[in-house]
Amino acid sequence: MKSKEQINAAKRKQVEMLTSGFRSVFVFLFGMSGVINILALTGAFYMLQIYDRALGSASIPTLLALSALAIGLYVFQGFFDILRSQILIRIGARLDRKIAPLAHQVAIDMPRFGFSTSESLERGRDVDTVRGFLGSQGPVALFDLPWMPIFLAFTYFLHPLLGALTLGGAFVLTLITIATELLTRKQSSATHQAAITRNTIADSNARNADVLRAMGIAGRAVRRFNAANEEHLELHTRTNDISGTLGALSRVLRMILQSSVLGLGAFLTIKGELSAGAIIAASVAAGRALSPIDLAIGNWKHIVAARTAFTRLKETVVVLASADEPMPLPKPKLSLKVEGITVAAPGSGRVLLSDVAFEMKAGQAVGIIGPSGGGKTTLVRALTGIWPTLRGSVRLDGAEVTQWDSEALGNSIGYLPQDVALMDATIEENISRFSENADPEMIVAAAQAAGVHEMIVHLPEGYRTQLGASGTALSGGQRQRIGLARALYGDPFLVVLDEPNSNLDGEGESALTEAIKKIRTRGGIAIVIAHRPSALAAVDLVAVIQGGRMTGFGPKEEILGPKPVAGEHGKVAADRAKSNQRTAVGGAS
Ligand SMILES: Nc1ncnc2c1ncn2[C@@H]1O[C@H](COP(=O)(O)OP(=O)(O)O)[C@@H](O)[C@H]1O
Ligand SMILES: [Mg+2]
Repeated sequence: MKSKEQINAAKRKQVEMLTSGFRSVFVFLFGMSGVINILALTGAFYMLQIYDRALGSASIPTLLALSALAIGLYVFQGFFDILRSQILIRIGARLDRKIAPLAHQVAIDMPRFGFSTSESLERGRDVDTVRGFLGSQGPVALFDLPWMPIFLAFTYFLHPLLGALTLGGAFVLTLITIATELLTRKQSSATHQAAITRNTIADSNARNADVLRAMGIAGRAVRRFNAANEEHLELHTRTNDISGTLGALSRVLRMILQSSVLGLGAFLTIKGELSAGAIIAASVAAGRALSPIDLAIGNWKHIVAARTAFTRLKETVVVLASADEPMPLPKPKLSLKVEGITVAAPGSGRVLLSDVAFEMKAGQAVGIIGPSGGGKTTLVRALTGIWPTLRGSVRLDGAEVTQWDSEALGNSIGYLPQDVALMDATIEENISRFSENADPEMIVAAAQAAGVHEMIVHLPEGYRTQLGASGTALSGGQRQRIGLARALYGDPFLVVLDEPNSNLDGEGESALTEAIKKIRTRGGIAIVIAHRPSALAAVDLVAVIQGGRMTGFGPKEEILGPKPVAGEHGKVAADRAKSNQRTAVGGAS
């Protein structure tokens, strides 16, 4: 067992890994911004020199020399500006490359824990937000802001009063920036939440298109979407109003300030305290000093969005970070042992299944029966590691499933979920689970075992048939059989089938029975949830799950009786289970 400190240290390291290498680049960019800002004084100096030197001496060569020098400096400034923006864009790309795969991994994980798909996909959008921000004017403003004192000092040296006026202006504009932050912070997270709500409804409507159309409720669905959309729009408008108003205010203030500097300069010139060139130079420098604030306020929405997105991504990585790499273990081939597991719904924490224990050896198959909502699916979710257990453990060959690397364990598990959803890919890719070097023979063998090979080769494109989103090109029974082939691919040790025969015809059911027999003869373990007794033909054990407990477990004949009446085994089993408590908790052995 690792101590909590060690795990936290590992997580911190993971987060640091994300930002490592960026810190030195940011220091470099900060320095480069300093150079850019010093070069940005070119305009002001040029004014000063033109008025005070070239015009004063009426010398064309001086004018030409000054102009050439100024152009040279401008070119340098432009060069550094381009370089800075290119570096920022590349930082964005590098960050994207590092974080996007992690964010996607989270997106895959989140729906298991009760999050909507839109909410999960939000992590992917977060990556886009951060990358987009790094390529925008936002970071430029943030890098320029700390160099503002250069311009303040310049105006101060022209005349202390001019410096004071510019400083005052900077102070007021900074207050506006802070006001923008305070006023939009809460709004923008509410807006973000409203956007997720709206997208969740859109997503759910699109997935239920058939139902909406058949029962004529598409109009209602649109109205429900519209209500969410209105709310999002209203929040969005309010946030934009705030930043738009304050942005305009700061722009006008900057112009007023620039003119005031001009006016004050003229006043000082009349009084004989300032040269004519200094008036213009001061005005240019004051404008330049305040422009990053202006830019920051204008971009505040994006700055806030990028900051929250990055925080979310960082939290995500911390959640993902595992303390250490699991040690490789040999493939399981002997037994499955369930030791008093209690399972709670990850979203609500409600306990759905308590204290289930049983044991199976290679070559055995169990049929799980019981009423709807009893906890059968919950049990197999815990067995396959989809949901964590609250107490107790699931062991394969003695080792807890959490000790395995999930990819290695996945190779030893075949799982057919209750709602078969196929991937938007070819049948071949679906059956072989996207394996990079899939063996065609194994794919065909799996399809034959599932009794679906004939059907596939009769499709115009055979195994290469592209299934649409969630396998829409197939019938329910066809999908279920391809799902079964996917579960059988590669002869996994533990095959878990959640109501595999709910959509099957007679032919499909006999293929299923054969498949279960084959799993047993090759020394695998099969767990089959079934409503209809036909699926139980090939199992030797039966478990009864009802009301979140296992109320019976034992040899099929013992639980179901020698000759179960078709369609009634559920009730018979439940009745028998009551008198069979001795076989329940504690296992078969
Ligand atoms: N994701 C979930 N979050 C919370 N409760 C759930 C979730 N899935 C199922 N349940 C609840 O758990 C109980 C058992 O469900 P399930 O295991 O699917 O039953 P079965 O497969 O036996 O029909 C039900 O009462 C159901 O409402
Ligand atoms: Mg179920």
